[in-house]
Amino acid sequence: MGMESHCIAALCALVTHLLVASFVQSAADSVTFSIANYGLKGTEDEDITKAFSVAWKAACSSTSPSKLIVPKGTYVLRQVVFEGPCKAPLELQVHGTIKAPEDPSDFIEKAGWISFQRIDRFALVGNGTFDGQGSTAWSQNDCHKTGECNKLPINIRFNFITNGLVQDITSLNSKLFHINVLGCNNLTFSRVNIKAPEDSPNTDGIHIGRSKNINITDSVMSTGDDCISMGRGSENIAIERVKCGPGHGISVGSLGRYTKEEPVSGIIVRNCTFFNTDNGVRVKTWMSSEKAIATGLYFQDIAVVNVSNPVVIDQEYCPYNHCKAKKPSQVKLSNISFRNIHGTSSTQMAMKLACSSGVPCENVEISDIDIKYTGSDGDSMSDCTNVSPKIFGKQYPSPCVAANSSS
Ligand SMILES: *[C@@H]1O[C@H](CO)[C@@H](O)[C@H](O)[C@H]1NC(C)=O
Ligand SMILES: *[C@@H]1O[C@H](CO)[C@@H](O)[C@H](O)[C@H]1NC(C)=O
Ligand SMILES: *[C@@H]1O[C@H](CO)[C@@H](O)[C@H](O)[C@H]1NC(C)=O
Ligand SMILES: *[C@@H]1O[C@H](CO)[C@@H](O)[C@H](O)[C@H]1NC(C)=O
Ligand SMILES: *[C@@H]1O[C@H](CO)[C@@H](O)[C@H](O)[C@H]1NC(C)=O
Ligand SMILES: *[C@@H]1O[C@H](CO)[C@@H](O)[C@H](O)[C@H]1NC(C)=O
Repeated sequence: MGMESHCIAALCALVTHLLVASFVQSAADSVTFSIANYGLKGTEDEDITKAFSVAWKAACSSTSPSKLIVPKGTYVLRQVVFEGPCKAPLELQVHGTIKAPEDPSDFIEKAGWISFQRIDRFALVGNGTFDGQGSTAWSQNDCHKTGECNKLPINIRFNFITNGLVQDITSLNSKLFHINVLGCNNLTFSRVNIKAPEDSPNTDGIHIGRSKNINITDSVMSTGDDCISMGRGSENIAIERVKCGPGHGISVGSLGRYTKEEPVSGIIVRNCTFFNTDNGVRVKTWMSSEKAIATGLYFQDIAVVNVSNPVVIDQEYCPYNHCKAKKPSQVKLSNISFRNIHGTSSTQMAMKLACSSGVPCENVEISDIDIKYTGSDGDSMSDCTNVSPKIFGKQYPSPCVAANSSS
């Protein structure tokens, strides 16, 4: 090949590059888009709502797999829905910090701040931060008075995502839940960071409902409510190597508040650590509930450090006294195991299994429990009602023995 054809090839490459100025061809059949190429000025706290939305449409309609990049920097993003279906797999890389508007009245109620919706083969990755700027909104949260707890926007909603991955991102100071998972199948959260103050109300880390095959691994969560909660229709969920605290622990529930809730089944919480949390592992169902079932709930290899209520089944859940009547829960719990749970409790009641008198718990196993009370006024205790657990291995405290209790 002569000098001339070299030059022509180089020129062609340059022309091609100019023609596709808004993206670069990275791998053979993967296309990269950056929101920076969609009319941004590059100023600090720039509003990227329009640029991001247009870039999303371009990436989503690419027929080859695409990467969409939010570069380093600090941005403002208004309430937005990133909608599929997309024509090929899409990987969104967030490297910068994206801030929400502070004022809750800038949001349509119940819609979430950022929603990803109806996308197959979607990844959200990068070491970027989604900052919900929740501190002013928290003081407006009147959920404890009204029982209406879903008015403020959730930071990130994943609605009807299939075959997805969320990795490395941080959710900071959400106004309400950090992350909500609805109608998803095969979605993995890995190395996710959740951060909000201990006293921020209803800032659950990840809430899952009506979804299956969801994994949450290697994540660190400190927040004002449950680190992870699994509601109606949570099926085949694996939670491993999550550090929770401060926060309210990892919960199945609350269940039974609504009619015809889909069953919960196949929940594994394994190799997780709780620091200074209100609860460790917990199953909660409403008192005076509707009928529902939860079965196959396995909690194992759990470390608790100064946790108020390390192991809990609470079928008399009735926060702020919002129950219609004091009737037993009708949520049937079965096939539950607590295995190898060790550490310290900041209250004497290390394990409380309070099952429903209407539908007692069935097939509950506790094995290898070693939880010491950190106080000096007695030993740790355990209490069981409407359940006769199968007991194996080491048991400290003695199972189902509460001091001064007749149960
Ligand atoms: C995020 O940071 C981790 C650890 O520094 C690194 O391994 C990973 O590649 C980063 N992710 C991206 C998408 O830059
Ligand atoms: C689950 O999704 C991942 C993509 O994140 C994909 O690689 C994997 O094949 C999917 N698993 C199933 C069973 O479809
Ligand atoms: C999710 O976790 C389960 C249990 O550890 C594992 O069998 C499954 O392969 C994981 N799924 C994905 C997509 O990583
Ligand atoms: C989690 O697993 C690792 C590796 O097997 C182990 O070193 C660690 O002690 C486990 N943590 C808990 C809380 O079981
Ligand atoms: C242990 O937990 C209690 C109650 O949550 C808290 O007041 C105390 O500061 C914690 N102790 C340590 C050493 O963190
Ligand atoms: C509960 O476990 C028993 C015995 O291991 C099993 O036969 C039964 O199918 C399980 N029930 C449910 C609803 O998973």
